[in-house]
Amino acid sequence: MHSFHYAHGLLHCEEVSLADLAAEFGTPLYVYSARTIRDHYTRLDEALAGLDHHIAYAVKANSNLSILRILRELGSGFDIVSGGELFRVLEAGGDPATCTFAGVGKTREEIRYALEEGIYCFNVESEAELEFVNEVAGEMQVTAPVAIRVNPNVDAQTHKYISTGKSENKFGIDYEFVAGLYQRAGNCPHLAVRGIQMHIGSQLRSVEPFVEAIERVAPLAAELKADHGIEFFSIGGGIGIIYDAALESGDVAWWSRQDDAPLTIDRYAAEVVPRLKDLGLKILLEPGRYIAGNAGVLLTSCLYEKAGSAKTFKVVDAGMNDLIRPALYEGHHEIVPVREDLNARRKTADVVGPICETGDFFCQDRDLADFQAGDVVALMSAGAYGFTMASNYNTRPMPAEVLVDGSEARLIRRRQTWHELVAPEL
Ligand code: LLP
Repeated sequence: MHSFHYAHGLLHCEEVSLADLAAEFGTPLYVYSARTIRDHYTRLDEALAGLDHHIAYAVKANSNLSILRILRELGSGFDIVSGGELFRVLEAGGDPATCTFAGVGKTREEIRYALEEGIYCFNVESEAELEFVNEVAGEMQVTAPVAIRVNPNVDAQTHKYISTGKSENKFGIDYEFVAGLYQRAGNCPHLAVRGIQMHIGSQLRSVEPFVEAIERVAPLAAELKADHGIEFFSIGGGIGIIYDAALESGDVAWWSRQDDAPLTIDRYAAEVVPRLKDLGLKILLEPGRYIAGNAGVLLTSCLYEKAGSAKTFKVVDAGMNDLIRPALYEGHHEIVPVREDLNARRKTADVVGPICETGDFFCQDRDLADFQAGDVVALMSAGAYGFTMASNYNTRPMPAEVLVDGSEARLIRRRQTWHELVAPEL
């Protein structure tokens, strides 16, 4: 489920009117639903009840401290990809011992920081990195816990920029070389081999690639348990969400529309759990988008309508710097007006931002509510990889963020100011 719906003619997040939030905090504005985040986490956790499992939320999806605190309270661990993300987790009161550290390019400073703080495991992505972690741990006279990320060479059938599990991708170690590398790791004096990891891609819309990858890697995991005493197998993140049915309308809850969707959590669990439960390993998951994606929207105000000879453009005050998914991955986000009555009149239009780039659009030639200057619209399903991928391009301040919980709304990040934008410059 998620918690965006019309009530009394206005779009709400839980019990809070989005029109009120736009008026109070201005636009562009990210708004998140705490209830949705809790619901999605719990739904996944419960679906996996048959497994000895642990969820390590992928911080990169949405790393606001208040969001991390919600997940920490639910018992989540954290999958991090930088020293900065570890810093955020610690600032949010997270336990470093629940953190896995992924990524192909960890620096000396990041490795040292993670060792000092005592993270659960480094997910190592190359032979060179393995040796480097060993070296840094040696300098510090500690032992570094490591897992090796295996690239199972499976087609995740997703956008090519978020596909990670094929041999031509930069991620992980080719399946055939993994066993040899564990031998190598076993001989490194400052490494303790703790697990095996994989992640084949993001926004997967069917369960088959997960199944294929698990069937490929599970026997290897069993072997590594016997030979090296590993304790966990991380199956990564990647669970896709629905982007094009973004609203609960009337009795038709968003989630029930999943019946004919190819990937539901129940389907995922039904296929994944039986294939993993007899391994005798702790199973880690690293979901990001599934937890946060449908839990957030980006509110933006229409500035102008511009009728060209070929098209109608609705120019809004959010740009690709605030939400880059359409420009980068041809990502689809539903665009709905905060005022419900505007849905009755339709127009085919492009919704574009103020940035000086042709790629700065949120949709093209889409049948939309015919909103006009001054109207506020919501770009739906923007809770994951929205704010975290935002930039200051065109010297635009980062948007503000609000967290809704029931009938309470709280500013969890204020809008950047122009002064803050230039402050670090010498
Ligand atoms: N684990 C690893 C090692 C990852 O690289 C990722 C995502 C995840 C877990 C979480 O994947 P998720 O459950 O969120 O699919 N910016 C793109 C998505 C990039 C994903 C990068 N890695 C987008 O907006 O679609």
